[in-house]
Amino acid sequence: MFATMGALGLAPTAQAAARETPFRALSASDFHLTGRAAAKVVIVGGGIAGLTAAYELGKAGYDCTVLEARERTGGRNFTVRGGDTTTDLYGNAQTARFADGQYMNAGPARIPQWMVTLDYCRELGVPIEVFTNVNADAYLYNESAGMTKPERYRTAKADVYGHVSELLAKATDKGALDAELTAEDRERLVDFLKDWGELGDTLTYEGGERRGYTTVPAAAGTPGVPLGDVPTASAVFASGVGRYFSFEFGFDQAMLMFQPVGGMDQIPRALTRAIGARRIRTGAVVSKITDTGSGVTVTYTQGGRTRAVEADYCVAALPPNILAKVPHTLGSGVQGALEAITPSSAAKIGLEYRSRWWELDHRIYGGITETDQDVTHIWHPSYGFHGERGILIGYYNYGSNADSYAKLTPKGREERAVAAGVKIYGAKYRTELASSFSHHWRQTPHLEAAWHSTPGGPDAPRYQPLNEPTGRVHFAGDWLSYTDAWQHGAFTSARRAVTALHARVLAS
Ligand code: ALA
Repeated sequence: MFATMGALGLAPTAQAAARETPFRALSASDFHLTGRAAAKVVIVGGGIAGLTAAYELGKAGYDCTVLEARERTGGRNFTVRGGDTTTDLYGNAQTARFADGQYMNAGPARIPQWMVTLDYCRELGVPIEVFTNVNADAYLYNESAGMTKPERYRTAKADVYGHVSELLAKATDKGALDAELTAEDRERLVDFLKDWGELGDTLTYEGGERRGYTTVPAAAGTPGVPLGDVPTASAVFASGVGRYFSFEFGFDQAMLMFQPVGGMDQIPRALTRAIGARRIRTGAVVSKITDTGSGVTVTYTQGGRTRAVEADYCVAALPPNILAKVPHTLGSGVQGALEAITPSSAAKIGLEYRSRWWELDHRIYGGITETDQDVTHIWHPSYGFHGERGILIGYYNYGSNADSYAKLTPKGREERAVAAGVKIYGAKYRTELASSFSHHWRQTPHLEAAWHSTPGGPDAPRYQPLNEPTGRVHFAGDWLSYTDAWQHGAFTSARRAVTALHARVLAS
């Protein structure tokens, strides 16, 4: 047994395993529960964390049952297609009327290259494609700074980088950095700034091709007409456009990013297939978790009937705000920790258009327009280029903006979002609209959050009853990770939980 554990990289105790052992997938080929009856595990919650727990334990021969309150697996990984229906906590019922092949990812929608999510896509055979997170031709729009029309990213960047470079180069030239830098350093800095800001020989920013053209260069005789009206440094800083540029430096937001072909829910669909649909009970709302000392009983209602699953262990993978409402025998430490974690709001509206006018008229293929409007972000689709139809994400917003849209009817949400979009893109934002579908996570039954805030971080002492197993219950979710609001957090948290669970089974 010890040799088996060694081969798996598992330490003899659950705690040590969880803290020190890098995750290794428990594949059927390298692990068998030799001489043991397969332990039974009940998994509460069929989102990414719960599905991953069932998938990884299933590879090792555990007998898993997943209880999922919604009619579909995936949790917040939710792709909306034509025919999908939802009813929010305010009672707004919607049916998506999107055309075949059109979809919106209401929850997760982009995957950085470093996240384990891509490893699961590879392992599960989910094809991926590039998700365009930043696009030089997408727009920036700050109405509160006096902008009356949008500006392209490339233009804003050229102007901000140009003026900042000019100021720093001139300050350097005038000796302002003599105390900080050697003469050689200063020369190198100025060389860098001339290149970075496209400065002329007098260290002055005068615009250039980076800003874009009103007539693009083409054949002989058409050298192109550069965009005129280079704004002053003062006007550029007043426009506030520079505030959007650091987004693309983020460790979790830098290009390239990816999405599954055909919708983010290809991931939970593939996990569900791999686990086996017979092991997953949907429409199963958990009503009590009881640790009996020798096992765990999870009571749930399904189709009006109360039922129970008896198991050796439980993986509790519900959102903390929902789990906190489920009666349990796990003690006040668990309850206090769950209640300390607070839910956050976020929302999206999918606007389906009869034509892809943003590609045809604006030459924007994917990427994000950033605004100071209450819609916050407008996303252009990263699939279906040059197709007949397409879905823009007309708002992706958070907090009070998301909540104020939630209070409107779906039609009211659409009208408010379209009014904001018309200011940026013009009349087609309204006239080409075919249908819309809005989704608000804080108002979604059984989830009631887009993501969570875990004060002090997931390793703060108050969360120890969640990070260590409490009795026979292990906890998992993105909210117990350093990548909250990412599937990576759910995957890695589930791996941590099943690694600890497996180690204790082997050691028992
Ligand atoms: N991970 C979420 C996003 O990328 C919050 O928008």
